[in-house]
Amino acid sequence: MKNKTEVEEVRSRIKKDTINDKKHSHEQIHTYESVHKIRDSLLSSASGYTNYRGVLNLCVVLLVMSSGRLVLENILKYGFLVRIDVPIQFIKDPTAWPSLLAIVLSNIFTFNALKLERNLEKGIIQETTGKILCFLNIFTALLAPAIYLWYREANPVSSFFALTWYTCLSMKLVSYFQVNRYQRLKRRLENSKNEIDEKSNTDSIKKQTKNEPLIEYPDNLTYRNLYYFLSAPTLCYEINFPRSERIRKSFIIRRSGEIIFLSSLLLFLVQQWVVPILQNSKIPFRETNILKIIERLLKLAVPNHVIWLIGFYCFFHSYLNVIAEILRFGDREFYRDWWNSEDVNVFWQNWNIPVHKFCLRHIYKPLLNQGITKSQASLIVFFISAFFHEYLVSIPLRMFRIWAFLGMIVQIPFAVFVKKFLHGNYGNMAVWVSLIIGQPIAVMMYIHDYYIDYFKVSD
Ligand SMILES: CC(C)(COP(=O)(O)OP(=O)(O)OC[C@H]1O[C@@H](n2cnc3c(N)ncnc32)[C@H](O)[C@@H]1OP(=O)(O)O)[C@@H](O)C(=O)NCCC(=O)NCCS
Repeated sequence: MKNKTEVEEVRSRIKKDTINDKKHSHEQIHTYESVHKIRDSLLSSASGYTNYRGVLNLCVVLLVMSSGRLVLENILKYGFLVRIDVPIQFIKDPTAWPSLLAIVLSNIFTFNALKLERNLEKGIIQETTGKILCFLNIFTALLAPAIYLWYREANPVSSFFALTWYTCLSMKLVSYFQVNRYQRLKRRLENSKNEIDEKSNTDSIKKQTKNEPLIEYPDNLTYRNLYYFLSAPTLCYEINFPRSERIRKSFIIRRSGEIIFLSSLLLFLVQQWVVPILQNSKIPFRETNILKIIERLLKLAVPNHVIWLIGFYCFFHSYLNVIAEILRFGDREFYRDWWNSEDVNVFWQNWNIPVHKFCLRHIYKPLLNQGITKSQASLIVFFISAFFHEYLVSIPLRMFRIWAFLGMIVQIPFAVFVKKFLHGNYGNMAVWVSLIIGQPIAVMMYIHDYYIDYFKVSD
């Protein structure tokens, strides 16, 4: 037994010696390969390096930390200002009710539009008269609620929602009229020439909606079809919309959760962050102290922008997707990657897709077809857009200023400037700066003017 152990010990010693010898011999043959070659430092643009994920994470961490500090500072300075019963107070407020009544009454204009289309289809009304009646219907739909809400001194927030409702309704009715008119004229042309356009829009829809019964003009002139369009998250009418296969309940629950959380967050941020800044800006504005006003505006621009970003996600992603899912509306392109826009035009093409598609299809392209140049057509679109921005702010606040109008109009020279002088990342930064400082300032100017005009609180 003892002998056996000794033999094993000798064996293991021999083994160790062999390993050491091997290591030694390996060290001797190690070659020192060349470690240098021609290459650029990662942070120089010539290196072509683009993976800044870690830096992005650092920015997020810094943002969370600095926002946390801001929240703490704010609560220490002002205390907890948030009133959680704001929605209940809003419902109880009698000045909110005229807006609701106005929304209910909007059905009148819908009925008018359908009746007009049916009469046009039957040939009871001539095309030119139809155009005039359609114009009058839409014009009244924009004017009547504005006058009504102005004189009823409706609550600004509810009034804003009601007028947004009417603006969307008017755009939808324009689209409804133009598409039906096109279908009507096309059918007449086909009847007279007995030609069928093989590449019609409905063919592409056919592929997307295998199980959906296809509707053809004039079978679409029903309340069901019109109200589906009015409820759908689009401003452009089509007789047959692409439909999704089924309603995903979990999707609706997730998006609805986002809406509840984000709208509560918005209410919190407005009350806790924006209102104190506005209150503190009374004196500089009254004394017209320019430097202090700039300081106040810059201070307002940050929460305003945060609110705008949350509002964007809440509306364009969560809300429009919920509506689309409930209605099985298939086209979910409500926004594109506007955050990467390197020029102002690209931003307007990508940020609010329902409005952009409407402008393109119902204003811009028809104008181009009439021989108007691109820049003139763009100018007209931006003028119309500027008018509606002004309409949606001035009437609810019951005061006419031109900040919103100017905010949209300056987009045209600004777009030319950015396109000419700033490219790539600089162009993208210019777009961000205009969003952070330009448009929100215009909105804040109104809120401030409103505050001064209506509350006139003593210093
Ligand atoms: C004015 C506006 C419509 C211009 O859009 P644009 O995309 O820059 O315009 P473009 O010149 O690039 O042309 C766009 C389309 O017109 C088509 N087009 C160009 N010239 C044409 C012509 N002579 N005839 C017919 N079509 C033409 C292009 O092919 C293109 O079609 P596509 O979209 O199917 O590819 C856009 O800037 C806009 O929507 N502005 C308003 C935005 C707004 O107010 N939003 C409010 C948000 S709150």
